[in-house]
Amino acid sequence: MPGSGSRLKLLKIGGSVLSDKTRPFHVRYARLRGIAAEISRYLSETRDKLVVVHGGGSFGHFTAHTHLEEKGGYDAEALAQISLAMNELGLLVADFLQSEGVPAVLIPTHAVWTAEGILVGPVVDVLEAGGVPVLYGDIAAPGGAPVIISGDTVMEQLAEKLPASEALFATDVDGIYDRDPSEPGAVLVERATPSQLLGVETGRRRGKFEVTGEMASKLGSIVRIARMGLRVTVFNGLRPASFYKALKGELTPCTIVEPEGEG
Ligand SMILES: Nc1ncnc2c1ncn2[C@@H]1O[C@H](COP(=O)(O)OP(=O)(O)OP(=O)(O)O)[C@@H](O)[C@H]1O
Ligand SMILES: [Mg+2]
Repeated sequence: MPGSGSRLKLLKIGGSVLSDKTRPFHVRYARLRGIAAEISRYLSETRDKLVVVHGGGSFGHFTAHTHLEEKGGYDAEALAQISLAMNELGLLVADFLQSEGVPAVLIPTHAVWTAEGILVGPVVDVLEAGGVPVLYGDIAAPGGAPVIISGDTVMEQLAEKLPASEALFATDVDGIYDRDPSEPGAVLVERATPSQLLGVETGRRRGKFEVTGEMASKLGSIVRIARMGLRVTVFNGLRPASFYKALKGELTPCTIVEPEGEG
């Protein structure tokens, strides 16, 4: 599906990069512009294809957390309001990408999410047309039951259903540490097999408005994606030029997770 001679990469722009997650509806506009320019530069130098997924940041997590606190779950109102908040952040991301010349096509995750996971056809169609699909962490209602779908889970589904060779995750820290990076003595894990990641600690600390389990659940997605045979890079998206260098495979420091080769 990406044409001959091109590879497909999956890129998650963490909500922790796009927003300060402690501040409702906060956007790091200057960094978003920089990220869009870096992605544009990378695409101008390669034949590789790209799918972008972004996280909820303080749009999705804040709105979802408010519903959870008030009602203890997600109903039709939650479905409406969380999907709208995420659509607004998605529009911003697509808008900044287009401003830098990237043919970003926003595909709201809830519109392609079924009880069997993602409906990948519309994503493939956009890739074949030369566009860059942009999906995001969202709320969806597979089988009629509203549920939060993290951007990391969207990455997992795309890795399963598209012939991608690499998955890249940007967050607000340099990669995966051997324990919560806010703990003294935390050391960056520069290379790991999926099995080695199972020993990593993530602490009990949770963001004020967090609804998808931060690094603990991200690690599960990363392990499963690496076991599907993709090379996984986890890097600090707040650092200037990090997206360009990570996509080129030239970034240090970061964490690289390679499949164990056990098939
Ligand atoms: N062992 C660890 N290694 C790296 N980060 C960790 C670890 N344990 C906990 N963390 C925390 O995980 C956070 C990143 O997860 P978080 O879900 O907040 O970001 P995100 O996925 O980019 O945001 P979003 O869910 O909005 O997309 C980091 O800020 C870091 O503090
Ligand atoms: Mg997260």
